[in-house]
Amino acid sequence: MTILSIHTGHNSTVGLLDQGKLVGLLSEEKINNIKNSAAFPKNAITALLDECGIIPDQIEAIAIAGNEVFPSYCYDYLFHPKNKINRTSLHSVAKSLEKGILGSVMPGLFKMARKNRKSDLLTEGRSELAEHLNQSSLSGKPVIHIDHHQCHAYSAYYGLAQDDSPALVFTADGSGDQACATIWLARDKKLQRISRTPPSASLGGIYTNTTRFLGMKILEHEYKVMGLAPYCKDYHKEIYDRIFAPVINLDPENPLVFKSSVDASSFYDYLVSCAVGERFDNIAGAVQHLLEERITAWVRAAIKQTGIRNIYTGGGVFMNVKLNKRIQEMDEVEHAHFLPSCGDESNPIGAAYALAIQQGSPVKPLDNLYMGISFKRSELVKFIADERLDARYAVSEPPDIEAAIADLLAQSEVVARFSGRCEWGARSLGNRAILAHPSHLESFYTVNDLIKSRDFWMPFAPTVLDSHADQYLENYNPSKVLAPHMITAFKATTLGVEHLRAAMHQGDHTIRPQVLTEEANPEYYALLKAFHAKTGVGAVMNTSLNLHGYPLVANPKQALMTLEKSGLMHLALGPFLISKK
Ligand SMILES: [Fe+2]
Repeated sequence: MTILSIHTGHNSTVGLLDQGKLVGLLSEEKINNIKNSAAFPKNAITALLDECGIIPDQIEAIAIAGNEVFPSYCYDYLFHPKNKINRTSLHSVAKSLEKGILGSVMPGLFKMARKNRKSDLLTEGRSELAEHLNQSSLSGKPVIHIDHHQCHAYSAYYGLAQDDSPALVFTADGSGDQACATIWLARDKKLQRISRTPPSASLGGIYTNTTRFLGMKILEHEYKVMGLAPYCKDYHKEIYDRIFAPVINLDPENPLVFKSSVDASSFYDYLVSCAVGERFDNIAGAVQHLLEERITAWVRAAIKQTGIRNIYTGGGVFMNVKLNKRIQEMDEVEHAHFLPSCGDESNPIGAAYALAIQQGSPVKPLDNLYMGISFKRSELVKFIADERLDARYAVSEPPDIEAAIADLLAQSEVVARFSGRCEWGARSLGNRAILAHPSHLESFYTVNDLIKSRDFWMPFAPTVLDSHADQYLENYNPSKVLAPHMITAFKATTLGVEHLRAAMHQGDHTIRPQVLTEEANPEYYALLKAFHAKTGVGAVMNTSLNLHGYPLVANPKQALMTLEKSGLMHLALGPFLISKK
């Protein structure tokens, strides 16, 4: 069965499942070059079908991630509020009024108005979706909506499970389809939901509102709050105890759900009432501590109730690598499986799996995440000629491009690597990467000053040869947790601090590694082996190939723009090396 799956909204993404196997995953941002683009992923659909050699006629069914589909202007308003004054902003005014004097006098009236407004929006959203499918030559096919948290759970479990051992699957995010956290029991490869928390008690919502309170972009800069947290001493107990801890906890009557005394959607206003003037790093430390304490307690409660110690996680909350570090360190957890890039962009994975299973088709776990678009040598030759790169750059084709990159890295040069299919998700996994020598702190400043312009407290991460993971990462135990996708963290060993100085968190010496096996990416593995042979270091610093504020590069044009608009000196474009003169 061939299924196309679509997540619309923030970071819209499309997936393609063929004969039970996920063969492609691509976000619209990778094509239109707008980070977290909420546009309908029409360009991604075309590019992915083309990459996989499938035509629209071959698609048998379409799985939509989520029951609630909103019109695109809602996302425009949510994520670019300065750009739009439209019907949604009027709705926001009504919502504010509801909370004010009128709302207290006539709450029922406003509640009803909001409900009607929402149902209008959902109707409009579905008709917009039908129109988009029509324009993508996909009309007339069965369209099945899959619940938002079911998508998160199915993505994590069916994407990662290699056997049918009983398991617990945890999902947590801001909210989706009227839930913010769920737990699922997996037995005999079937999932059954055993708990559901409504959005009012959303830890993800609290974290996101704290991100906003700190002046950062919601649904994008939460990782910056996490990165800032270690600079606060002992999670700032006073702020934690006074502001955060009293607000949300496990429900004493059912510890598999959360209960909150402040509605998560009002948490920004709550912080305005009690946290103005507090230091930003202390707030970051306290909210990070809250997240870790509450989620680990939740996981512990579910393990206690079921006796199952094999866990899977999905949903945007588990993008938090420090939370995942805490989870994998729990004595109660026997095996932990963290879905990478587990925000809503992962939901097409679960939507496709859920629909295939509904139809009685068996499904297979993910092989790798190099699921995007690729370019043949002949296409790169044409690109170099069309752009007249010879005239502006030194262009060569070394006999072994991976060895040539390793040579440059060993000489402390910074090199962008563009190779094979682009990786799906937020993290570079080597195919669209900026690489540097990980042992020299200068690499950190060079990459940041010349290319990335990230906030000064944010760390870079390494790709580590599997043979060196236990030398660099404390308590690295692949039989408990694998770390191939930069989705969890470890404390660096003494040797790790020495060899990976530029590719760790400078505040607490933790590392968010991509532990690389030869099987996962033979060419990139060869590069790391060549670098190790020259330097004795079994890792490279790896950050995503993009400029600040742009998504991870997918095509040669975007890679060239990154070279041209930054201090980057070398771009390895397929087999070609393009260097500034
Ligand atoms: Fe979600």
